[in-house]
Amino acid sequence: MDCNVRPASMARITTRALADAFIEEQIAAIRAEIGDKKVLLALSGGVDSSVVAALLVKAIGHQLVCVHVNHGLMRKDESENVIEVFRNQLDVNLVYVDATDRFLDLLAGVSDPEKKRKIIGAEFINVFADEARKLSGIDYLAQGTIYPDILESQKQAEGKKAVKSHHNVGGLPEDLQFKLVEPIKLLFKDEVRVVGEALGLPHAMVYRQPFPGPGLGVRCLGAITRDRLAALREADAILREEFANAGLSEKVWQYFVIVPDVKSVGVKDESRYEGWPAIIRAVNTVDAMSATIEEIPYAILHKITARITAEVAGINRVLYDLTPKPCGTIEWE
Ligand code: XMP
Repeated sequence: MDCNVRPASMARITTRALADAFIEEQIAAIRAEIGDKKVLLALSGGVDSSVVAALLVKAIGHQLVCVHVNHGLMRKDESENVIEVFRNQLDVNLVYVDATDRFLDLLAGVSDPEKKRKIIGAEFINVFADEARKLSGIDYLAQGTIYPDILESQKQAEGKKAVKSHHNVGGLPEDLQFKLVEPIKLLFKDEVRVVGEALGLPHAMVYRQPFPGPGLGVRCLGAITRDRLAALREADAILREEFANAGLSEKVWQYFVIVPDVKSVGVKDESRYEGWPAIIRAVNTVDAMSATIEEIPYAILHKITARITAEVAGINRVLYDLTPKPCGTIEWE
């Protein structure tokens, strides 16, 4: 039987009881496979790697070593939350690497989106590999692969072209040969979430919106600068806060801010004030292949606009992207 094919008999995990049964089964399988060996996991803070971390720490405790790489392109407070939940609450053996300067130095002056993605993906592997070499006696690499990833790579293997290159920790250097552990590889996203809650992960972490691997790097358009990236991070935090206040966080599939490398003339404190626009994007989709626009009520748009222009240094306008996919992709790069 191909272990990358979901058996027709496998029930969809929709309830706490089914999730508990899955967790018990996986814990037994993981213990049987790993024994007293050590497992390494790149923990991004996304739903999939978080669920794998919570499952593995339950199965093998401190034999799991997680590495969280902050590439400097995380959203506001994101790395801090990862540390709080995994190191402080779940007692996970967590290595935190602040690699902001490594990434931003490499990205300086690079404006082509695919080049940016490639630099971020490759440097992520470099940083992770550097950390892996420092840790001795690791035999296994855990990955948060889920079933749609397997289906997607099968499609690509059949020659269908991907619109944008995505990155994960595959492609580690030759000297790092790990066996793979992928405990949620037969699950769909909704099932991963049910399992995550059953494992005791915070609701906000389990139901968080998807966030691309290259992070804010593909939302700070063109060549990334630290000041524009900081403005983007603050504006995005305000958007997320106002969506939460309005009860929209779990209703809308993905919502975020984009800041292009364009300035317009504005006025502040009776003087000319040149600033960037913050572009709001809020979309709904089932599979990210096509997407529709969330109609944000005007009162909320006004509040977001007032807050961003008053609170974020460098931003003097707020725009609302009304383009569905197609013809716009969800991200601008
Ligand atoms: P697009 O922009 O292609 O996005 O319509 C579809 C979904 O994919 C996410 N996305 C990425 N995820 N690495 C990722 O891990 C990437 O390079 C990447 N680019 C886009 C995007 O956020 C959306 O959910």
